[in-house]
Amino acid sequence: MTNTEEILKERIKELTCLYEISSIIVNYNTDFLQDTLKAISLSLKKAFKYPEKTEIIIDLGESSVSTGDYSQEALNIFSNINVFNENNGQIRAFLYQKEDEDFLNEEQLLLDSVALKVGNLLERIEIKKSETSLKRQMERADRLSILGEITAGIAHELNTPLANILGFAELLQSDLATNKKAKADLQKIIQNTIFSREVVKKLMFFSCEMPQEMKRVNIIPNIKSAIDLLDATFRKEQVKYLAKIEDEELWLKADPIQLTQIIFNLLMNAIYFSPKEGLVTIEAFQTKKDIVLKISDEGDGFTAEALEKVFQPFFTTKPTGEGSGLGLSVVHGIVASHKGTIIAQNNPNKGAIFTVKLPKT
Ligand SMILES: Nc1ncnc2c1ncn2[C@@H]1O[C@H](COP(=O)(O)OP(=O)(O)OP(=O)(O)O)[C@@H](O)[C@H]1O
Ligand SMILES: [Mg+2]
Repeated sequence: MTNTEEILKERIKELTCLYEISSIIVNYNTDFLQDTLKAISLSLKKAFKYPEKTEIIIDLGESSVSTGDYSQEALNIFSNINVFNENNGQIRAFLYQKEDEDFLNEEQLLLDSVALKVGNLLERIEIKKSETSLKRQMERADRLSILGEITAGIAHELNTPLANILGFAELLQSDLATNKKAKADLQKIIQNTIFSREVVKKLMFFSCEMPQEMKRVNIIPNIKSAIDLLDATFRKEQVKYLAKIEDEELWLKADPIQLTQIIFNLLMNAIYFSPKEGLVTIEAFQTKKDIVLKISDEGDGFTAEALEKVFQPFFTTKPTGEGSGLGLSVVHGIVASHKGTIIAQNNPNKGAIFTVKLPKT
């Protein structure tokens, strides 16, 4: 073979390889990155002058592929794979050469262009990922607001009949004062009605049926009164609490009743999910712009599923009849209407942490 012919042959191999890799990338199917990288490395191997003596490795940390065994001692060339201008790995070609066999200059260039293509692919995957998560968040917000409207209607419709049931049951109870059995049954009706009315109340909170009254408030007394209200519950459930608050006053613009509702609901959860003798810590402090409230406990914390769904209405892990799964949706709704944020996290040591940030003005 003449030299020109040989060069041409190599050139054709390279172009075929680039074409192949482009079509592999175009046909990329999410979730099969490993397969795609493998196909790319095999295609690349064929493009080298001594394919049977060349091995390709695409090293991306967690997901790495290679066309065969390679030894770090073999002659090798590489090209960096960059994703959004940051190094993310390498493509490396190893040659088990004899005598004066060596890589061609063109082979380095080929490696560079494949590394560029792989980098672009990884960038596209990243972009797609963040788009999907954004879309999911928006869908969720949509669902929440639709649910808000529906529940507002339902709550309103149920409120009056529930009040009637309760009223008549109480009347009957005094009429039937001598009939023990009937009285006990009525007591059950009354209890269940009260529970249902509580659910309806939460739904109304959640759907912003309650008018909001924003004023300048000092959150410290709100925290204290929520703790006082729950003091008996803390003792009954044998849960301890610690208030880590250094400031005497922490002022913000908020609806005082809703503020208490936030603290109350978070504390109720913390108590419920605490083990016996567990400690609930209540922390409050300010940053330049926000008042921060942190409530943590020593329970089991969240499962991955719970972490994703805690703020969704009706999500509950409590047994049927014990929880409506609305407490945190109410809290979330109130925090959002105050233009604040709330996050749920697992404490690396133990338990759950809720962090609420509310803007001071
Ligand atoms: N401190 C916590 N530790 C562990 N899991 C929690 C904690 N707080 C909330 N969760 C999880 O989030 C779920 C939803 O909480 P949310 O307050 O909205 O409803 P609930 O407490 O189940 O019912 P409700 O508040 O209506 O009585 C809980 O059932 C639980 O799975
Ligand atoms: Mg709750």
